Amino acid sequence: MAKKKQVEVDLNSDWGYSPAPESKGHIKIKPQYDQFIGGKFVKPSNGKYFDTINPANNEKLSSIALGSAKDVDKAVRAARKAYSEVWSKLSGKERGKYIFRIARLIQERAREFSVIESLDGGKTIRESRDVDVPLAANHFFYYAGWADKLEYAFPNKKPTSLGVAGQIIPWNFPLLMAAWKIAPALAAGNTVVLKPAETTSLTALKLAELIKDSGLPDGVVNIVTGFGDTGAAIVNHPDVNKVAFTGSTGVGKIIQRAIAGTNKKCTLELGGKAANIIFEDAPINQAVEGIVNGIYFNQGHVCCAGSRLFVQESVYEEVIRKLKHRMNTLIVGDPMDKNTDIGAINSKEQLDTINKYIKIGQQEGAEFYQPACKLPKKGNWCPPTLFTNVSQSSRITQEEIFGPVLAVQTFRTVDEVIAKANNTPYGLSAGIWTDKGSKIFNMTTKMRAGVVWANTYNKFDPTSPFGGYKESGFGREGGLQGLSAYLNLN
Ligand code: NAI
Ligand code: MG
Repeated sequence: MAKKKQVEVDLNSDWGYSPAPESKGHIKIKPQYDQFIGGKFVKPSNGKYFDTINPANNEKLSSIALGSAKDVDKAVRAARKAYSEVWSKLSGKERGKYIFRIARLIQERAREFSVIESLDGGKTIRESRDVDVPLAANHFFYYAGWADKLEYAFPNKKPTSLGVAGQIIPWNFPLLMAAWKIAPALAAGNTVVLKPAETTSLTALKLAELIKDSGLPDGVVNIVTGFGDTGAAIVNHPDVNKVAFTGSTGVGKIIQRAIAGTNKKCTLELGGKAANIIFEDAPINQAVEGIVNGIYFNQGHVCCAGSRLFVQESVYEEVIRKLKHRMNTLIVGDPMDKNTDIGAINSKEQLDTINKYIKIGQQEGAEFYQPACKLPKKGNWCPPTLFTNVSQSSRITQEEIFGPVLAVQTFRTVDEVIAKANNTPYGLSAGIWTDKGSKIFNMTTKMRAGVVWANTYNKFDPTSPFGGYKESGFGREGGLQGLSAYLNLN
């Protein structure tokens, strides 16, 4: 019998889906955004602004206030005033009402938020619409429910708020990270000064507008905008009681050094290099979809991305063949198209970083694969990328790339894969694909990772804590653990 020819599907070619762009007519982006301090939108003290661009075409979307240490000081003062005069005196039930209101308003404006998130950050509309925005609303709903039940959440303790929380977030889940930070802080009775990442300030500023509409007392939430030095001014402000940071391990270390010797509380959620592990008894098709979801969707801009794949030797060829086949069907391009799988890389700098690592991988002698796909002419793009035949010591298996780049290794035994998977400075998350429950339980106790997904990947829920081991940081967000990070528990 003649061998059936393998047909490579290329949905980027002309027989793919017709374009299905999400409309932008319903949103309004102002030409200029100021900072939200003490319940008002205020101009930056130095009068300076910076551009925020759409990474899918590198066109300017708006101007954002360049916050300075002076603005941060103003915001911290507003937060302190709101804390001591209003927020710390309100009952939990009253605080909860406001937080519920914010949650409902996010739901009402979900479409607007998801379109702006995709325009400003480059992530696919499918992701911002189905993941970021609904989860952000869910976080506010979840923590709103705890606001009047703190004594029940922590029995035999006297939970009290900390004061002013300084919060700094990254660009990969801009609105969702703002929700992760603000919701538990408010439920616990703290006030907030938050800084979004410089490439994705818009949804945080839209959230500020929404918070104003919600009637939240002035100064309870303040949003300052700017770059790393604006973030540093928050960290170093003497009247900040708690620092919560999500971002790179490098900046996490700077923050830890900066607050050493102070009594500021701190949680750090940093980088990752997650192992996604496929055993021979796994449902292979489902696992391949899980790999794709884990590293290629959202451009690999996920701290818990499954960037290291470990495949048991006996199924290696099947997994790689199916994975390449699936990679050929991934649609790279316009984030606003509902069919797009891989949107724009968030910034030119991040694209340079990813391309640097792709070069390193090739120089290190790994086998390299990218499907042939047409990329848009303007904007920042990276096709799904696969490296096989990589070694434990190679830089693409050790260092965080933060892009759609997967490095594959093989293994024979359970002990071998545990040792290999744990051989990383990071420990944020991992994935296991197997038919055997006992194997899952064995693995989860031995993996040094804050989250271990079994037969799924990148699943989030406000009730379950998230956070890392080792250089992935400390402290947990989500669930009761995430609430306790904003409380004194005596
Ligand atoms: P970054 O860590 O520099 O930025 C994250 C946030 O911290 C931004 O709001 C930034 O303005 C602020 N920041 C920067 N320097 C600061 C300082 N000295 N003090 C206080 N705040 C400061 O991350 P960046 O440069 O955007 O990305 C670099 C790498 O970091 C990526 O390639 C990726 O590997 C990793 N990363 C990890 C994230 C995660 O979720 N764990 C998120 C974003 C980036
Ligand atoms: Mg932008």
